Amino acid sequence: MDHQLIQRAARDILHSKKTIAFTGAGISVESGIPDFRSAGGLWEKFDPEEYAHIYAFQSNPEKVWLMLKEMFSLIIEAKPNPAHLGLAELERMGLLSSIITQNVDGLHQAAGNRHVIEFHGTHRTLSCLKCSMTIDGTTLKIEDLPARCSRCSSLLKPDVVFFGEPIPWEAQVSSLKESKSCSVVLVIGTSAVVYPAASIPVTAKERGATVIEINRESTPLTNAISDYLIIGPAGEIVPAIVEEVKKIR
Ligand code: APR
Repeated sequence: MDHQLIQRAARDILHSKKTIAFTGAGISVESGIPDFRSAGGLWEKFDPEEYAHIYAFQSNPEKVWLMLKEMFSLIIEAKPNPAHLGLAELERMGLLSSIITQNVDGLHQAAGNRHVIEFHGTHRTLSCLKCSMTIDGTTLKIEDLPARCSRCSSLLKPDVVFFGEPIPWEAQVSSLKESKSCSVVLVIGTSAVVYPAASIPVTAKERGATVIEINRESTPLTNAISDYLIIGPAGEIVPAIVEEVKKIR
């Protein structure tokens, strides 16, 4: 872990008028939820074209539920890791305005963050595509899945954004507002290859924000948008930055 960059990030956060975080699946890997595109990731096992596109769900929901059931079983057991907890501490210290997350696992809220924008929806509710009934998914056990609509008995779809579906309007509006008005954005655990999500750090940069990337490896943002990349596991880097902030504030 590069201690000079940890110190630089702590200084940037303390001098920042408004800091936001933009997170991807990588921040939840140390909670036991594999990401999508790393070796051993979900898309290695399930082709996203066949399992994560809205047309796939509409034409063969039973098949898509094979992937969803695996995802849910990991999410149900997962707990926030030190990276999630570190961001919650920054919010409590008044040093983090919001988190825009691509994740649907709810771990930022479980860690204690109150201002979380779920850009790709949530696993916590499921809806019926036929009669648009919505149910609370947090009470479901893995043996209850796949869940069926009690009105028309169609298979329910989790309220996560599938490829080919629009981003929830309020998430788009609030994310744009945050990315345009922040002075620092912490980009944590995302490959930054899926749009429009990946345009969030680009918008922040265009408005003059400092872009701090935390990832195990470089991404398309690294030499183009990010001011610097701190290489390593988010579960170690985020807490180290928070400790440094406490030391120098
Ligand atoms: N610490 C930091 N970074 C990590 C860690 C870790 N412990 N583990 C993995 N990473 C990094 C990987 O190097 C990779 O750059 O996290 C990133 C995860 O990338 P993806 O698997 O592509 O996940 P994400 O960027 O969130 O995907 C975006 O794609 O499939 C869709 O809707 C899905 O929201 C998802 C979107």
